[in-house]
Amino acid sequence: MYLRHLSLTNFRTYARLEIDLPSKAILLYGDNAQGKTSLLEAVYVLATARSPHTTSDRQMIHWLAGEETLMPAARLVADVTKADRSQHLEMVLMLEPANTEDGWRFRKQIKVNGTIVKAADLIGQIAVVMFLPDDVEIVHGSPANRRRYLDNALSQVDAEYAKAIDLYAEVLAQRNALLKQLAETGGTPDSADQLIYWDDRLAASGALITLRRQSTIAEIEALADQLHRDLTPERHNLRLRYQPAFNPDQPAASIYQPGLNLDLPTRSPGATLEQAKASFLKQLLSKRSEELARGLTLVGPHRDELRFIADEIDLGTFGSRGQQRTAILALKLAEVQWMRQKIGDWPILLLDEVMAELDAGRRAYLLDQINGAHQSILTSTDPDMFTEEFRSRAKMLKVVKGRIEE
Ligand SMILES: Nc1ncnc2c1ncn2[C@@H]1O[C@H](COP(=O)(O)OP(=O)(O)OP(=O)(O)O)[C@@H](O)[C@H]1O
Ligand SMILES: [Mg+2]
Repeated sequence: MYLRHLSLTNFRTYARLEIDLPSKAILLYGDNAQGKTSLLEAVYVLATARSPHTTSDRQMIHWLAGEETLMPAARLVADVTKADRSQHLEMVLMLEPANTEDGWRFRKQIKVNGTIVKAADLIGQIAVVMFLPDDVEIVHGSPANRRRYLDNALSQVDAEYAKAIDLYAEVLAQRNALLKQLAETGGTPDSADQLIYWDDRLAASGALITLRRQSTIAEIEALADQLHRDLTPERHNLRLRYQPAFNPDQPAASIYQPGLNLDLPTRSPGATLEQAKASFLKQLLSKRSEELARGLTLVGPHRDELRFIADEIDLGTFGSRGQQRTAILALKLAEVQWMRQKIGDWPILLLDEVMAELDAGRRAYLLDQINGAHQSILTSTDPDMFTEEFRSRAKMLKVVKGRIEE
C-alpha cells in the first residue's frame, strides 16, 4: 500500500501542505527543525489515531491555530492506494472549550470515505512500521516501553486487541479507584460486589491481551531470530522472552503459586480465552488481601515484561549500545515481515534518521530488506549517508520550514 496524496493543515509546523507522493522510496532531507519528523508523525497518526510519542495530543495542533479561531484544530487528509481498493481518510484533531481544569478538551474526528467512524474502525486502513532513533529504549528502557511497542504493533492488525487495550485501561482505572477507596476508608457494604464486577471485566479483556501478546511474540521472535543471525558476524540467536504478570496456562482448578518472572515458552498459547480468563480471576483472588492493602491492581497485562536475550545475554541489562541497536533493527525488520504476513500487503515504512545510527554493512542490509516496499519515507539531515544508487532511485524532497520543495 502507499499514500498517493497527503494534505495537512495546522499540523505541527505545517500550516498548509498539499503533496502527491509516489509509490517508491522517498527521502525527506533538510536541516534540523524543518519538519521532517513531523511529516512521518502525521502519517503515523493517520494510521493509528495515536501519536508515536508520549507527548500530549494537543501539541500536534499548530500553536498559532488558536489565534484565528475559537476552536484550534489540525486536519490530516490522505488518499491511500491498496492492492484491491483506494481509500480517502480524514482526521481532525481539535481543542474544544470545555469545563475542564484548563478550559479545553481534545477530540479527534475520523472519516473514512466521507463517513464518520470510531478510532477503532481506522484499524487496518493504513498499516505503518516506524523506525525511530530512540527505539533502542524498547530494549533498555522501562517495561512500559516494551508494552507500548507490543500494543502499537498488534493494534494495527488486530481490531479486537485494539478494543481490548482501550477497555482494559478504562476498567483498570476504575478498579484502582475502587481499591484505593477500599484501602483508605474500608468502603461501603456493596464495594465487594462492585469489585467482583470489575474483576470480571478486567479478566475478560486482560486474558485476550495476554494470549494475543503471547502468540504475537512467538511469531515475531521466529522472524527476528533469523534476521539477528544475519546481522551478527557470530550468527547470534535472539530470543524474546515473554514474562506475563499472570499465567494464562495455569489450570483454573489448581492452586496458584504467586511467583512473578514466570517465563512463558515462546510458542502458540495453549490456553483458550475462557481458561485464561478463569486463571486470571483465580490469580486476582489470590492477591486480594495485598491489593486491598495497597489499593492497587497487582495482576494483569499492565505489569507484563518482555526481555531480549541474544546468545544467552539479557540485552536490556548487559547489552552494549551496538548490541541493543542490532536487536532493535532485527525486531523492526521482523515486524515488517510479520505485518506483511498478517495484512497480505506491504505496510508503509517510516524511517526517521536511522541511517546515522548504523554502520555501512547494516545500512546496506536495511535498505536491501525494505527494497520491495511499495512506499518507504526516510528522513535525513545528510542525504550523503545514502548511496548514489539509492538516491537516483528515490524521490528526493527537501523540507524547509514546514514546506516541501522538489
Ligand atoms: N504544535 C506545533 N506548532 C508549530 N510548530 C511546531 C509544533 N510542534 C513542533 N513544532 C516545530 O516544528 C519544527 C519541526 O520539527 P521536526 O521535529 O519535524 O523537525 P525535523 O526536521 O525532524 O528536525 P531534526 O532534524 O532536528 O529532527 C520544530 O521547530 C518544532 O519546534
Ligand atoms: Mg527529526
